[in-house]
Amino acid sequence: MDLSRDQINRIFEIAESIKSGKEKIALKEHAVLALLFEKPSTRTRLSFEVAMAQLGGQAVYMYSETTQMERGETIVDTAKLLGSYCDFIAARLYNHSDIIEIANNSGIPVINALTDLEHPTQSLADAYTILQHFNNLRDVKIAFMGDIASNMANSLMITAAKLGAEVALVGPYEKYPPNSFYLNHAREYSKVYYYSSIEEGLADADIVYTDTFVSMGQEHEAEKRRNLFSQYQLNEKNLSYASHDALVMHCLPAHRGEEITTQVIDGPRSIVWEQARNSLLINKAIILFLSERR
Ligand code: NVA
Repeated sequence: MDLSRDQINRIFEIAESIKSGKEKIALKEHAVLALLFEKPSTRTRLSFEVAMAQLGGQAVYMYSETTQMERGETIVDTAKLLGSYCDFIAARLYNHSDIIEIANNSGIPVINALTDLEHPTQSLADAYTILQHFNNLRDVKIAFMGDIASNMANSLMITAAKLGAEVALVGPYEKYPPNSFYLNHAREYSKVYYYSSIEEGLADADIVYTDTFVSMGQEHEAEKRRNLFSQYQLNEKNLSYASHDALVMHCLPAHRGEEITTQVIDGPRSIVWEQARNSLLINKAIILFLSERR
């Protein structure tokens, strides 16, 4: 949400130069990234830790339950402390408003490593991955199927629309509608529609993207969600409604047999491991992008 199209493209340019071994921006010596996480993480945590190690800096992982936040220290006080010791913060939190508090009070760059409302670093890695297969996002139709009210749907529609892609949100919108704030914002940049019909929504899609039906923090409604979303599973039949050569994406972790079948995620059209690999590259590029601006 905070990045312009040019800034997103700059991050991709940095990623390309890292890949070619020609990147000129250096990380400040001994730079430290604080990873403040309230929710579990595999890829995001690991990719940021590895990114910092490979760039010559260091990451310090703090699971909130093991900090004084657990005993009532406020997010503002925590942010001030992190800002006085570290160079960057990546935070994974429940409440989106908490990351805004951290950004407003830490005095250092803050990366959203997922909140209940957004997962922007993933969507940057996704857009970069799509660009490895299509020259321009303006030529691409992306269908996001399943929980179209999720953090992943919000960030994907914003990032993809900003880069000019057409976005179709396909899910039971009467019960779980897309977030109107993100939808309206995405619509300022590109065509974004929502559908309950899989056949209509997936028609001509170049990319079919899905995510879990039960995001972190929604465990109490797991059964209801699995029942309601089950018809939106990314399986061979539903995939057949998309373009004949449509590619399959998933931010992971996948729940095989729920939102996606093993056949599809391990099938020839799946680029999920490429997406996962690109998170490391893009997270490095994000850190260097923020270094360039300091
Ligand atoms: N929507 C998922 C994304 C996991 C990376 C969640 O929030 O749990």
